[in-house]
Parts: sequence; C-alpha cells; structure tokens
Amino acid sequence: MTAHDFPSAHVADAAGMDIVLVGDSLAMVAMGMEDTSEIVMEEMLLHCRSVARATKAAMTIGDLTMGTYEISPEQALASAIRFIKEGRMQGVKLEGGEEMAPTIRRITSAGIPVLAHVGLTPQRQNALGGFRVQGKTSEAAAKLLRDAIAVQEAGAFAMVIEAVPAPVAALITKKLRVPTIGIGAGNGCSGQVLVQVDMTGNFPPGRFLPKFVKKYGDVWGESLRAIEAYKADVKSRAYPGPEHTYPISDEELAAFEESLESRE
Ligand code: KIV
Repeated sequence: MTAHDFPSAHVADAAGMDIVLVGDSLAMVAMGMEDTSEIVMEEMLLHCRSVARATKAAMTIGDLTMGTYEISPEQALASAIRFIKEGRMQGVKLEGGEEMAPTIRRITSAGIPVLAHVGLTPQRQNALGGFRVQGKTSEAAAKLLRDAIAVQEAGAFAMVIEAVPAPVAALITKKLRVPTIGIGAGNGCSGQVLVQVDMTGNFPPGRFLPKFVKKYGDVWGESLRAIEAYKADVKSRAYPGPEHTYPISDEELAAFEESLESRE
C-alpha cells in the first residue's frame, strides 16, 4: 500500500500491510502536480521521513524520483543512500527493465534492497505515449519477460508489474523466483499494490480513476460530512459544548468579575 504522510502510513501499518511504499504518485495525488516528473528528491525525502516515523511493522520503500537514478549506477546509488539515510526508508523502488540491471546491481551490492517496476512506468509516459497498457502483443510480452528476468537477476527482491494484461503478468510471475506485485495486472501476481488515496476514495467526485482501482471506502465523503457538520455547529454555537471547555472555580470567576467591575 502506498502512504504519503504520517497518518496514511500509520493506518496502512495498523492494517497489516507488508510493505508501505512512498510512491512518487504522491506528486499527483498529494501535491496536485500534473505528473510524476515534476517532484524532486527533497520533496520525496520529506514525505519519506514522515512515513518512516509512523511505520513500525511494514517494510518501507521510497520511490527514486525521475532524474535521480537514470544517469549512471553511481548517481543511482548516491540517491538510494539518501533515501536510506535522510528518508529513513529500508529500500528503494526504481522504474525500468533490462537497461536498469547494472543500476539495480550497483544499489543492491551496497546492501540496499531494490523493488523494481516494469510494464507501465509512469515516469516514462512521454516515451510510452501516455498511461498505456503494456505487453499487449506477443513481442511486447516477451520483452516484458526479458525485463522481469533481468531485474530479478540484477538483484531486485521483487518487482511491481503495472498495467499489463492479467494472463501475461501471471505467466511472467510463474517464470520468476522473486515475487511480483501487481497494479492493473490481474490476480495472478504474487501480491498487489494500490495508491491509498485512490482505494480509500479520498478524492472529490468525478475525478478520473484508472480501471484497475477498486474503491474500498469514501474518505472524501466522510471528511466532507464531518467538516460541514463542524461548520454548522460553529455557526449555531452548538460547538464547543461544555464538555469541550476547561473549568474555573466559582470563587475564582467571581473574583475575576469583581476585578473587572472595580476597573470600570
Ligand atoms: O508511485 C506509486 O505510487 C507507484 C505504485 C502505484 C506502484 O509506483
């Protein structure tokens, strides 16, 4: 499950999630950015630290932001170390297949667990022609399998497979030793991940939601109801009630009132 701040990490951890991922989806769903290419490492690290403080049982993974790992394996390792030391994460996620194998090898050889991410890789949406389903031809599915094997052999402990036909993801999962974590890739993956804001319904009605998201809650609706009820109570003075205020003894209050009168 993704988490982007202290409360969302707290609830994911309390619900027993195995991994809490500070995904760079945070750029879009928590920071209102157009896509994930805009967010910078310092912003991610700030959110990682908040998530780390709330997560007691789950493994924590931080998403390497676009531009912080593609230039060279050395750049990627330096960025991964910042996620561990400054972000207080226990591992990192990065997007890409075969071409990222040397990078994954470099990071894991330094003792930092890597969660790979193949299929639809949102940081590369400009090259992919948008958020498009991947692996839809036999050739594309074969390339996806090569990517999955390459990141496994490079040392990734697991991989996210995003937006891939379910039978393709299931077949690839069977060919691997490491677990696959599906998102829009059917139930034949080893595990699943969703963006918490999406699956808890913490967004206004009418917002676009990818086909693969199942909405398990209505956090927006409940928050709106609570805030509107608060507004009505404040205006009618029903809130705060006596139970929400601090007492003062009758003697002290009388003495205060008397002191006010003597000033008039
Ligand atoms: O950024 C993110 O939240 C992700 C997950 C959806 C896998 O990459």
